[in-house]
Amino acid sequence: MTKIATMQMPSPISVAPMMDWTDRHCRYFMRCLSPSVGLYTEMVTAAALRHGDKSRLLAFDESEHPVALQVGGSEPALMADAARLGAAAGFDEININVGCPSDRVQSGQFGACLMSKPRLVAECIDAMHAVCDVPITVKTRIGIDDLDNYAFLREFVDTIVTTGCTTFVVHARKAILQGLSPKENRSVPPLNYERVYRLKDELPELKIILNGGVHSIAQCEAHLQHVDGVMIGRQAYQQPWFLTELEAAFGDGTAPNDRDEVIHDMLPYIEGELENGAQLKHITRHLLGLFAGQPGARAWRRHLSERAHQPGAGIEVLKEAMQCLPKAA
Ligand SMILES: Cc1cc2nc3c(=O)[nH]c(=O)nc-3n(C[C@H](O)[C@H](O)[C@H](O)COP(=O)(O)O)c2cc1C
Repeated sequence: MTKIATMQMPSPISVAPMMDWTDRHCRYFMRCLSPSVGLYTEMVTAAALRHGDKSRLLAFDESEHPVALQVGGSEPALMADAARLGAAAGFDEININVGCPSDRVQSGQFGACLMSKPRLVAECIDAMHAVCDVPITVKTRIGIDDLDNYAFLREFVDTIVTTGCTTFVVHARKAILQGLSPKENRSVPPLNYERVYRLKDELPELKIILNGGVHSIAQCEAHLQHVDGVMIGRQAYQQPWFLTELEAAFGDGTAPNDRDEVIHDMLPYIEGELENGAQLKHITRHLLGLFAGQPGARAWRRHLSERAHQPGAGIEVLKEAMQCLPKAA
């Protein structure tokens, strides 16, 4: 087994794995906004990694480090394969999805329903540890359905810890496996931060990262009094400029001074991607929120939304969208 150099997540802040959102273009953009925040891929299933287009599924830009690959699955042999491929591709961490409640994921017997099968998750982690040196971490909920109490969460964690896994990202609401859409499962079950704090309190040797409903620096500061890290999903995607505030508050890098600087940083990347056959709309869709709350935000969004999907749309569409913004005084 080759020893692979990996980078630990240096910042206490990370951006959550989000299907359809945190693809490699999005992560590149986020890295332009924050040099040190931890990044996660969308969930990739272990089966897709075995049977699908591996190089496409595992592609990322070197600037994305530290970046974790999130994997979904529950078959130890498949999960080991996924870990081996992820490590060989250069990911800094492999994270297992034990939080997604979608029907598709449940029918594949993984995601949040795995909270009731901690031994199977542990077997997967053992198999993954056997084939790579990259840290294997778990992203979970605080409970599922009626299994909604601290003892259940603690038993889950205690079982996983026997594998040597020491990092848990905990979305501080339970998942309801029947009757709620994944979207509803991110807002209907109430947040219970106390349960996550208690985990850290009782198991201080573990790295506990809290997730769910965080949208301000003050909230991050408050949570970091109790846990090791905070993972942010929707707020980071919908208000990407927030990443620069996170960098200033918790990072060790330099955040860009203004939004134009970010676009200028993105231009060579976008040009390169277009030359390699990417479509402009697949990149610019992640940039729509960059000017949220700023003068010209609506014109920016509208121009990109209307023009970027047209056949042959090129970098000029982005440059025109910048012309829609008021000039700095
Ligand atoms: C569009 C979208 C897609 C998501 N996809 C995933 C995923 O692939 N894997 C995962 O573990 N969680 C996924 N999540 C859940 C987030 O990682 C996070 O746990 C959740 O949004 C709560 O954090 P927030 O309140 O900061 O958004 C997704 C969330 C959203 C909004």
